Amino acid sequence: MALILGLESSCDETAAAVVTSDRQVLSHKLAGQETEHRPYGGVVPEIAARAHVEVLTPLTQAALQEAGVTLDQIDAIAATAGPGLIGGVMVGLVTGKALAMAAGKPLIGINHLEGHALSPRLADPELAFPYLLLLVSGGHCQLLEVRGAGDYRRLATTIDDAAGEAFDKSAKLLGLGFPGGPAIEAAARIGDPGAVPLPRPLLGSAEPHFSFAGLKSAVLRARDAGVHSAEDIAASFQQAVIDCLTDRTRRAIGRAPGMNALVVAGGVAANGAIRAALQGLAAQHDLRFVAPPLWLCTDNAAMIAWAGAERFAVGLSDPLDMPARARWPLDPTAEKARGAGVKA
Ligand code: KG4
Ligand code: ZN
Repeated sequence: MALILGLESSCDETAAAVVTSDRQVLSHKLAGQETEHRPYGGVVPEIAARAHVEVLTPLTQAALQEAGVTLDQIDAIAATAGPGLIGGVMVGLVTGKALAMAAGKPLIGINHLEGHALSPRLADPELAFPYLLLLVSGGHCQLLEVRGAGDYRRLATTIDDAAGEAFDKSAKLLGLGFPGGPAIEAAARIGDPGAVPLPRPLLGSAEPHFSFAGLKSAVLRARDAGVHSAEDIAASFQQAVIDCLTDRTRRAIGRAPGMNALVVAGGVAANGAIRAALQGLAAQHDLRFVAPPLWLCTDNAAMIAWAGAERFAVGLSDPLDMPARARWPLDPTAEKARGAGVKA
């Protein structure tokens, strides 16, 4: 059995965790930065990087202590090496390198998206490769064939905003607060999902890509029209997102035969209505449905440690001069999505 220390600092959560190769989470520590970023209504990269510097070392010590292990007993150190806000990624990766060098242990640089992609296997020992993954987070919205650790085929991505970004921006427009995903989900519970007619971008289009920028603009217009309550707009927005996610995922299911399961991961996978809709879609296609527990959906270090465990098991590690990367596609062969809203 291998013991892996994981570090995460790519966005606005600082996290450290100790996980074993047989799926025990011995500790997982998390320090959010919501109070620091709330006045700005979004994550400020400089503030995030500084906050990571302040808390990562004590948090790592706390994770080791809670796990009841010393650094010497750890078999490898896994740290997020990208993609993300570069200042934060550098803080975590440099910390990981320093610990690896000091303790003479291998460093495993983890793609944050791989952390999300493999997280369902930490919670579910039955989940075997290959599986179809809907990865929905604040920075990404992708459909991927997960074939093994380090082996991904991207079927689709967003041509503009990520799903979580749409939740966050819409919540801000509606004055529902930050972070937007949980705020919209709560408001949607008391709103009417049929109240406001909102667009479903790319619904029915041949490629399973996503687009959310137009939906966000429609939320702005609905707000300014002043006819509907924020709760009704939130519920209608969430329903539009659900319709897009299920339609696009249905398209991807048709293109990815031989999958063992339909899996959802990433922060937006914490949304109960989205989980329920995808579960229904999986049932229609006789596919197993797997969604990690809520704490494992949003950013955390257990998923980074687990991705490290999966890589360690197949003999992968990285040199100490591995670079931090702001951008880092999981499938380097994937072509750029084409569409009106493509970002430069
Ligand atoms: O995976 P994650 O923690 O960070 C990234 O890697 O981006 O995802 C954060 C995103 C945010 O946009 C947040 O609003 C969204 O996940 N989110 C949710 C919910 N909880 C978090 N979106 C919808 N419903 C939720 N319950
Ligand atoms: Zn994430």
